Amino acid sequence: MRYAVVILAAGQGTRLKSDLPKVLHRLAGRPLIEYALEAARAVSSEAPVVVVGHGAEAVRAAIGDRGRCVLQAEQLGTAHAVRQAEAELRGQCEAVLVIYGDMPLLRADTLHALAETQALNSTGPLTLATAEAPKLKDFGRVVRDGAGEVRAVVEAAQATPEERALTEMNVGAYCFDAEWLWAALPQLPLSPKGEYYLTGVVALAVRGGGRVAAVRLDDPAEALGVNTRAQLAEAEARLRERINAHWMAEGVSLVDPATTYIEPTVQIGADTCIWPNTHLQGRTSIGSACLIGPNTIVRDSIIGQRCRIESSVLEGAQLAEEVSIGPFAHLRPGARLERGVHMGNFGEVKDSVLGPGTKMGHFSYIGNATIGAQVNIGAGTITCNYDGVKKNPTVIEDGAFIGSDTMLVAPVTIGQGAKTGAGAVVVDDLPAHSLAVGVPAKVIRKLGKEGA
Ligand code: UD1
Ligand code: CA
Repeated sequence: MRYAVVILAAGQGTRLKSDLPKVLHRLAGRPLIEYALEAARAVSSEAPVVVVGHGAEAVRAAIGDRGRCVLQAEQLGTAHAVRQAEAELRGQCEAVLVIYGDMPLLRADTLHALAETQALNSTGPLTLATAEAPKLKDFGRVVRDGAGEVRAVVEAAQATPEERALTEMNVGAYCFDAEWLWAALPQLPLSPKGEYYLTGVVALAVRGGGRVAAVRLDDPAEALGVNTRAQLAEAEARLRERINAHWMAEGVSLVDPATTYIEPTVQIGADTCIWPNTHLQGRTSIGSACLIGPNTIVRDSIIGQRCRIESSVLEGAQLAEEVSIGPFAHLRPGARLERGVHMGNFGEVKDSVLGPGTKMGHFSYIGNATIGAQVNIGAGTITCNYDGVKKNPTVIEDGAFIGSDTMLVAPVTIGQGAKTGAGAVVVDDLPAHSLAVGVPAKVIRKLGKEGA
């Protein structure tokens, strides 16, 4: 059977009280629409049809070529929204899965279950997902008859007190026989609120003698719809639980899962331990047996095995194995720390390489620098890389010893095994194995191979 997926994303999200279209609000760092696109991708290799309307240009830009966008110029309800996909899909598929763009916790497995159940529903034109979720008070209620068959979905606003008391909710995910759907949509009535409700198809199918099948979800969190800021926070908490449970099952220790924030795009190796208030974001990958946190942000960075990062911020950085960082270090884009580097408190590194075993213990700024192996960077060392117009490079060769409070006025090269005295301001290149002191720094002698 050929399946197509339709994602409804035209609504404003009035209850969020925001200038941003609802589906662009972020959950665990990604816009809500990403989650729907991902679920759709798991059931159909063809790009889903996304119905856009409110903030259409911004939503289209976020979707790119991952969805075929169709415009719903006026938001006249969920049934009206699905009709906008007809021209794109009519005759192209036998079954249509419809999901809403504001249900980020819906699993791809649920879409598979809907498709499979509908394939077996020989007497009926649709299958819908339901969940036992008494707390979701603004959801449509699933009405069943004495035999347990689904008869209708009634929106909360239109429900009688008896219907409001029902606790089986309409999740907002459906699988339809395609031809039946296109014929049914124009028959739906206008609601008292002036909208065409997709949920009306259930009663329509029943009136036509068809059986409406239902897939009951075990996990009501999957049904969470984001209509309000409170529901956005709730969805964030549930997604966090899901992600954290996954990593713990993969052998990662989380000292306090409630204060560990791992975005869905992150990878973590086994035997890594994450301390509280740690945020792992974007395209970050953490090796095995690392200690990360507490109070650490790692964004778009690659961390090797057995690294230790405490109370620090890393963005766009790369660490080889056994690097130790912090507390209070800041790595910025282009920072690359080779095996065994130690970077202590109050250091900043950007666009620079620190070679294997190099130590930078305290209060230093390293920018646009290439630093070799086993270099000692004394407390307070600064690469003066910016001359007011452009950034200039600093090179420090293997085994050099930079004295405390040295200013390296770039462009400048410190030769292999060279040393600078405390407080030196280095404006000219230093030859290998030389000692320079003063302001501006002058070479005062050659050093032996042991650096003495
Ligand atoms: C909808 C369901 C309700 C279900 C709930 C689950 C209907 C009528 N009601 O209610 O039974 O329990 O979801 O979360 O379907 N949209 C459009 N165009 C429109 C209107 C809405 O694209 O004209 C989109 C919205 O952007 C949103 C989705 O459809 O992504 C659902 O709309 P929303 O207004 O959030 O419906 P609910 O009131 O939550
Ligand atoms: Ca909703």
